[in-house]
Amino acid sequence: MLRITGKTDVYGIFGFPVKHSLSPLMQTAAFEALGIDAVYVPFEVNPDNLGGAVSGLRAMNIKGINVTVPLKEKIVPFLDRIDEVAAFLGAVNTVKNENGVLSGYNTDGDGFVDSLEEEGVDVRGKTVLLIGAGGSGKAVTFALLKRGAGRVIIANRTLDRAVALSEKLKSYGDVEAISLEDVERVLSSADLIVNTTSVGMRETDPPLFDYEVIPPSVVVVDIIYKPFKTELLKVAEGKGAKIINGLGMLVHQGARAFRIWTGKEPPVDVMKRVILEQL
Ligand code: ATR
Repeated sequence: MLRITGKTDVYGIFGFPVKHSLSPLMQTAAFEALGIDAVYVPFEVNPDNLGGAVSGLRAMNIKGINVTVPLKEKIVPFLDRIDEVAAFLGAVNTVKNENGVLSGYNTDGDGFVDSLEEEGVDVRGKTVLLIGAGGSGKAVTFALLKRGAGRVIIANRTLDRAVALSEKLKSYGDVEAISLEDVERVLSSADLIVNTTSVGMRETDPPLFDYEVIPPSVVVVDIIYKPFKTELLKVAEGKGAKIINGLGMLVHQGARAFRIWTGKEPPVDVMKRVILEQL
């Protein structure tokens, strides 16, 4: 039973909308599991009011927040310090408040790679076919390269965006940009296929490419967790491929935020369990 007193620390999430967020459930369960006297609440922050909301963190001594769509980029100029990853991405998903000094971090990409490791997938030296060149694609590609992926082929509907992203990332490793139509051509060289687009969230979404040609040797990852198994993952599984959904990324980006705030080892199993119960 949650017991809030005058000593309880307050954490939260800024989003617009924020009602769908599973982070309050996950982070509050993590605090409770470790006996940390803290709560984590949703804040619906209209982008027009973001500056005021950030001032409010300092004014009210809110210890930390996560930041979600559409505020991850917009919050950057309001913070005092930005770590290397968040600075490169130009996007923050975690803020820590230390006596009014606000530091921004981005745990999305590393959370993604952590979730692969948890499933026994080592990215070092691997060739990754990554679909999407938006904010998620950028965060995931950066983390993959930093953690030793051999090569990332970015495929995107709008080729220009994939090219721009590959240019930005090429000093970190071997990156190539292709258009979505060319995915089937490179499929046989990929160890991992990763979907970072929103395609698959709705049942009516047309496929990104012909999923029937996925070889059984490849690991297929979707950063979507709702639905729990997208059409891409369903077909890939049917082909005999190992599949991983976005639940692990959600949990591990949160676990890294928890570690930043508390300095303690996050109870990953508890965090995962409460989300699984909710989904
Ligand atoms: P996020 O920050 O969540 O990544 P985003 O920046 O809007 O969101 O990027 C969405 C990604 O999904 C993009 O790569 C987008 O492709 P475009 O750059 O061509 O827009 C991709 N995407 C969205 N809907 C798509 C669709 N129906 N087919 C193919 N790609 C799609």
